[in-house]
Amino acid sequence: MIQSTRTPGAATAPALSALQCAQSLIYLSGGSQTDVYRTADRRFVIKLKATNARTVAARQQAAQLQQVADLLRAHLGPEHSLNTWFLVLADDSGQQLVVGVQPFLDGAHPLDAVVLGSLTRASQVSLLENLRSIVRRSLACYHSTGRAADLYGYGRTAGSEARRWDPRRLLAEGWRLISQRPLLTAHNLMLTQDGRVVVVDYDPICHSRLSCRLIYGARALLLVRDQLQLGVACMRLHQSHCCNSAV
Ligand SMILES: Nc1ncnc2c1ncn2[C@@H]1O[C@H](COP(=O)(O)OP(=O)(O)O)[C@@H](O)[C@H]1O
Ligand SMILES: [Mg+2]
Repeated sequence: MIQSTRTPGAATAPALSALQCAQSLIYLSGGSQTDVYRTADRRFVIKLKATNARTVAARQQAAQLQQVADLLRAHLGPEHSLNTWFLVLADDSGQQLVVGVQPFLDGAHPLDAVVLGSLTRASQVSLLENLRSIVRRSLACYHSTGRAADLYGYGRTAGSEARRWDPRRLLAEGWRLISQRPLLTAHNLMLTQDGRVVVVDYDPICHSRLSCRLIYGARALLLVRDQLQLGVACMRLHQSHCCNSAV
């Protein structure tokens, strides 16, 4: 039976009965724009993106999400991204659901759940090199398309907050992005069991031409800042390694 609670780990899929899955869906997380479920066989995640009364609008939204996800994946490359397929489904009440389907990264952790100091030095170097590669590719993507993936994202609590328009919260969020090192605590980046860092969220976060230029421009500046910080962190890690092995 489908429950309607949203407790992580609980079998729950309120609107997603439209998928008519033969297996249950387990609620994983809700970020800023999405409720995320995984299939019981741990093969896929199902991301409930939006509900819309109008079929045409829902199809347009799915097509737009697909286009952006494919574009970002082409720039990030298969080692740092996932295939995402967008569908429109109708639930029992006639609502159109825009749904994304992705392979489930079993055993992977969002970076905000990874403590850098608990990793071996080799894993720390690999993590930083992965991040540098993602930042380099994201900047190349920005330069050729004017877009870049949101690498940072929101956690579950901040995510539900972010669904509300609140200028004070936006300012606080902007300041957090500028003043802290959020890339190492990003919700949209996951560290896989084989040591890759993968971007899991490709959602566009702006609609008008002007807001897109501003938001992606600001994002590109943050990427340049991240590139410099990661370069310094890598250098320090290499240096301390050389010093330790010389002792
Ligand atoms: N493919 C995936 N495999 C495993 N966990 C995932 C996957 N995609 C997302 N998640 C988990 O769900 C969280 C939110 O996903 P995300 O796509 O970023 O949603 P939102 O658009 O709401 O930010 C991620 O931080 C991660 O913990
Ligand atoms: Mg996200």
